[in-house]
Amino acid sequence: MKCVDDFRLRLGGKELVPLVVGGMGVDISTAELALEAARLGGIGHISDAMVPTVADRRFKTRFVKDKLKQYKYNVANSDKSDVRFDLGHLAEATRLHVGRTMEAKRGDGMVFINCMEKLTMNAPRETLRVRLSAALDAGIDGITLAAGLHLGSFALLEDHPRFRDAQIGIIVSSLRALQLFLKKNSRLGRLPDFVVIEGPLAGGHLGFGMDWAKYDLHAIVAEIRDWLRTEKLDIPLIPAGGIFTGGDAVDFLGNGGAAVQVATRFTVASECGLPEDVQQEYFKASESDIEVNGISPTGYPMRMLKNSPAIGAGTHPNCESFGYILDANGRCSYIDAYNREVALHPDAKKVSVRDKTCLCTHMRNFELWTCGHTTYRLKDTTRRHADGSYQLLSAEHIFNDYRFSKGSAIALPALKEIA
Ligand SMILES: Cc1cc2nc3c(=O)[nH]c(=O)nc-3n(C[C@H](O)[C@H](O)[C@H](O)COP(=O)(O)O)c2cc1C
Repeated sequence: MKCVDDFRLRLGGKELVPLVVGGMGVDISTAELALEAARLGGIGHISDAMVPTVADRRFKTRFVKDKLKQYKYNVANSDKSDVRFDLGHLAEATRLHVGRTMEAKRGDGMVFINCMEKLTMNAPRETLRVRLSAALDAGIDGITLAAGLHLGSFALLEDHPRFRDAQIGIIVSSLRALQLFLKKNSRLGRLPDFVVIEGPLAGGHLGFGMDWAKYDLHAIVAEIRDWLRTEKLDIPLIPAGGIFTGGDAVDFLGNGGAAVQVATRFTVASECGLPEDVQQEYFKASESDIEVNGISPTGYPMRMLKNSPAIGAGTHPNCESFGYILDANGRCSYIDAYNREVALHPDAKKVSVRDKTCLCTHMRNFELWTCGHTTYRLKDTTRRHADGSYQLLSAEHIFNDYRFSKGSAIALPALKEIA
């Protein structure tokens, strides 16, 4: 019986352990987590979601405070078209986040940045170009273009000196999405260096409709693999979503996958950005505590724990501080939902908004507990203390369990007594 360590991913002239820890915004896949994956010979992701907020928290900068100060006059106005990101600040925040991470990198692996194109930031093309270019300037090994795959993103980077040497890949959930991307980008003479195929069991936003349960990752991977063979295109494929054990990973590695991308198992690592009380919620969850719903104002279905504090909260929109979901016209569907509730309940001190959520505020505060479908199995990956709490794992333990375990086995950590 094989294990993940019997395989290698060849990418950018390197031979890597074929394990990718996926990007988890906002700073759930921290630099510490990504660096561990790289140190152990795989690939880790940091995320560029709300990077000025992340920089403020990590490096004591004042990007968010300064933006709020500049637009304070607009807080009560439901028209947010005035609220713009300072592109210089955005570049600086990205360079700090990426630069400091890359300085700390050890080992033979790579660190990539997950770039959520659906963060339209009231100026989709300009802000995306700045985020991508600044990440390359700061030495990131690679970029994974995610959520809302913008068919023109490669073109935005065409003139960057690292456009052809950095590893740049995309996430798709169907053959059709991949075909569209390749067609649109054919004139650039540059294929994606890798394609993550994200199935319906993944965490975060899904590339499927509410009928996600009809789809199967194995079937999508086989369809894409066969089509690429017919077209004589050689692009490493990286399946993702629901790959919970080393044995699950091997099923894909022997079958068209050049590596696998995983995330849920790492949400309970001590290097993960989620606060520990939230990690305990992930451990405790049963299958019926997890849902896919439509509350994300991005328009994509999103998977989360049903007891996330974000669900139903009637937070006042915070676009003057954040504003990452504002479209090119300064609109966000949460603002409309919030204003509707305020108009319906003019005397209420606080409203509840059930159909949409203020994604920026709640992701920043770790109150929207997005998770993968297999979260309910996390309790089987660790030990339980006498007080009922679950023991956090090290990223190294989880990585090595994927790398060396065979079949459906999961190695438990040594029990750490708590004081
Ligand atoms: C908590 C959490 C947050 C996530 N956030 C993002 C994100 O910001 N961008 C993204 O492209 N994918 C995101 N994902 C998806 C993962 O990167 C990954 O592809 C997927 O979850 C792998 O499946 P698994 O969680 O079943 O292992 C997230 C997943 C989780 C669990």
